Amino acid sequence: MKFFVDTAEIDQIKELNDLGMVDGVTTNPSLIAKSGRDILEVTKEICDMVDGPVSAEVVALDAEGMLAEGRKLAKIAKNIAVKVPLTWAGLQTCKALSDEGTMVNVTLCFSANQALLAAKAGATFISPFIGRLDDINIDGLELIEDIRTIYDNYGFDTQILAASIRSANHMSECAKIGADVATAPPAVIKAMANHVLTDKGLAGFMADIEKAGIKIL
Ligand code: E4P
Repeated sequence: MKFFVDTAEIDQIKELNDLGMVDGVTTNPSLIAKSGRDILEVTKEICDMVDGPVSAEVVALDAEGMLAEGRKLAKIAKNIAVKVPLTWAGLQTCKALSDEGTMVNVTLCFSANQALLAAKAGATFISPFIGRLDDINIDGLELIEDIRTIYDNYGFDTQILAASIRSANHMSECAKIGADVATAPPAVIKAMANHVLTDKGLAGFMADIEKAGIKIL
């Protein structure tokens, strides 16, 4: 499973990228607003740092506006994936941009039917939002499973990009289901390293190291 990092914070992307943990980046208007940076400027900086796809989201609601914005975003770098919402206008834009050879990430997906439409419209990525479904007591991971089954049934190339990930558990569950990509905030990716028994084991080793005065350097 590929890891995308879900942030527009350059320092955080760099730290994970230097460790080889970043296969791509996703941003959205809320993350751009949080960064306080100009969307074109910060997106270019991310594209220069990361080799994989960098999702940048349109802000227009109509197909004509989305297409114009998408074309402008696509000019930033070769690794841009234009992010469009899963609306009818978003699907029209997805089809047009995909036909032009631009990667498209269709976002705000909350149902298997929406994912089916995005694949038919030529999406490179479909972004089902796990956490936001969990928030309203609908099993977000079940949606990932359903989309996996549907895409495999018909051999769709669209990659399942599990989004709105809130925990390390979401990451391992997505990997078990077979999501192609998971995008997560840096803190969640770092939390994957944590285990209570690792901490306990290390504390025991440290106590013995001190008792025995073990030194290597
Ligand atoms: C993905 O592309 C979205 O930017 C993101 O995962 C949304 O996550 P949230 O529901 O935690 O805001």
